[in-house]
Amino acid sequence: MSSNLIFSRRAFAGAGLASAGLVLATGARAFQGKPLTAESPMGPFFPLDVPTDSDADLTWLKGHAKRASGQVIEITGRVLDQRGNPISGARLDLWQANAAGRYAHPSDVASAPLDPDFQGFASIVSDAKGDWRIVTIKPGGYDSPIGHRPPHIHFDIRGKTHRNVAQLYFAEEADANAKDLLYKGLGAEAPTSVAVRDAGNPGKYAWDIVLMG
Ligand SMILES: [Fe+2]
Repeated sequence: MSSNLIFSRRAFAGAGLASAGLVLATGARAFQGKPLTAESPMGPFFPLDVPTDSDADLTWLKGHAKRASGQVIEITGRVLDQRGNPISGARLDLWQANAAGRYAHPSDVASAPLDPDFQGFASIVSDAKGDWRIVTIKPGGYDSPIGHRPPHIHFDIRGKTHRNVAQLYFAEEADANAKDLLYKGLGAEAPTSVAVRDAGNPGKYAWDIVLMG
C-alpha cells in the first residue's frame, strides 16, 4: 500500500521542526493553517478482501432486497490542504462495524450479529471541489482488548502526496469518546476527528479531512 510518493506525517514526527506548520513557513511569517486531521492506528479489521460492492452507499448491497439494519446516516465532507484548498481525486477507503458493533472480519470474534445486508466498506474519490459523501449506518460501539470503543469509522485517505489513516468519531458520543483510549491518545488533535451533527437533521454529519497535500 505504501508508495514513495506517499509519506506518513508520523514519519516526520521525529524531525521535530518539520511539523506541518513549520514546513509551510514562508518568509518572516510562519504559516498558521488548518490543523491536520489526527492519525490513528489502522486497527485489526481492514477487510482482507475488498468487496466488489464498495460504492458510497453502504446501506444497500447490490442484489439484496433489504437495506442494512440500523440508523441510516449521511456524512459529507471535503478533503483540504492546510490552506483550505480542495484536494481533488483523493482516495478514501473506509470501513466500520455494523449497527450491532460487529465487523465482517474473521478477526472479530464478538458475539454481536453480522448483518448480511451491510456493505461495511467503501472506496470513494473526492471530486473537483474536494467534496465527498457517504450514506451508511451509524456503527455500534464494541468491546475490544483496549476497552470499550465508541462508535467510529476508519478512514484510509490518500491525497496527492500524503496519506493518513484516521478514525471518525461522532460529536453526540462525547462521553464515550472521552473514555476511549485511542481518542484520548489524540490529545489536542482529537477535535479534528469528530464529525459534527447537523442541528436541523440528526441523520446528517459533516467532517472535513485536512492533509498536507
Ligand atoms: Fe474499529
